Amino acid sequence: GDEADLVIRPPVVTVMGHVDHGKTKLLDALRDANVVDKEAGGITQHIGAYQVHTEVDGADRRITLIDTPGHEAFTAMRARGAQATDIAILVVAADDGVMPQTVEALNHAKAAGVPIVVAVNKIDKPEADSTKVRGQLTEYGLIPEEYGGDAMFVDVSAKAGLNLDKLLEAVVLTADASLDLRANPTQDAQGLVVEAHLDRGRGPVATVLVQRGTLRVGDSIVAGPAHGRVRAMLDEHGHEITEADPSRPAMVLGLSAVPGAGQNFIVVDDDRMARQIAEKREARERAAMQAKRRV
Ligand code: GTP
Ligand code: NA
Ligand code: MG
Repeated sequence: GDEADLVIRPPVVTVMGHVDHGKTKLLDALRDANVVDKEAGGITQHIGAYQVHTEVDGADRRITLIDTPGHEAFTAMRARGAQATDIAILVVAADDGVMPQTVEALNHAKAAGVPIVVAVNKIDKPEADSTKVRGQLTEYGLIPEEYGGDAMFVDVSAKAGLNLDKLLEAVVLTADASLDLRANPTQDAQGLVVEAHLDRGRGPVATVLVQRGTLRVGDSIVAGPAHGRVRAMLDEHGHEITEADPSRPAMVLGLSAVPGAGQNFIVVDDDRMARQIAEKREARERAAMQAKRRV
């Protein structure tokens, strides 16, 4: 790849935090705030990752959100050596404050070297105390900018839809300040499987996140032990797309089997090569599992 081919890709963001602090509600709210993107009659499908837009300094900026329950998927991906996330949004309910899984999530993000943006949620509640949350996290070394640290804290309400744009802006500013998000869209695509399942009508369906290059309909791919030719791709609105650029999540149809979350995918020259690589991977996984059983 040539330096000149590099473009800034959107940051990939995971939402983490303690049980019931509002991760799902926040992801829903961020998606709903972007319904303008949805064409009338367009059916929104459940997809494990999606993109939202926000305007920062007059420029339209995209952010990819990975929709995972809790931080299991994050951990599963890290266990496979995959780093899917550029930034973590740490959700802390302002009525509850810092709880054990808040600290756990914080430690996961720190261990992965991922910058953290704090969403202090549920500020619509009368008992909300966002100052207390700032004080608590400061004790764990996550110091708000307004206290001289480098973490951005944004008070939000997922329920009332308060400050969602501010939160997205904080993500973009954090990405610009601390990450190199350049990627080459001209090379063959590679990336990660976010989730996959078997659909009755469509066969194996994998939500993939393109990390480098551009994935196109017709490409021969290997995804974990699965292979195939990309028969069709859908975006988060269920619309068919013909290509997916870096940080773009897409549902891929045409695989021979269901790959696992966190497994990587690559584009190869042709179907034959895809099948050969997939068979080798499968044999390797089988051998590894047998070795594990023997211990
Ligand atoms: P788990 O996935 O179980 O860990 O929970 P979660 O973090 O995804 O929390 P969830 O989004 O399910 O929200 C938990 C509860 O808090 C639900 O009853 C939400 O309606 C409520 N909730 C979430 N955000 C807000 C908010 O901003 N304000 C208020 N008042 N309630 C909220
Ligand atoms: Na919940
Ligand atoms: Mg949830």
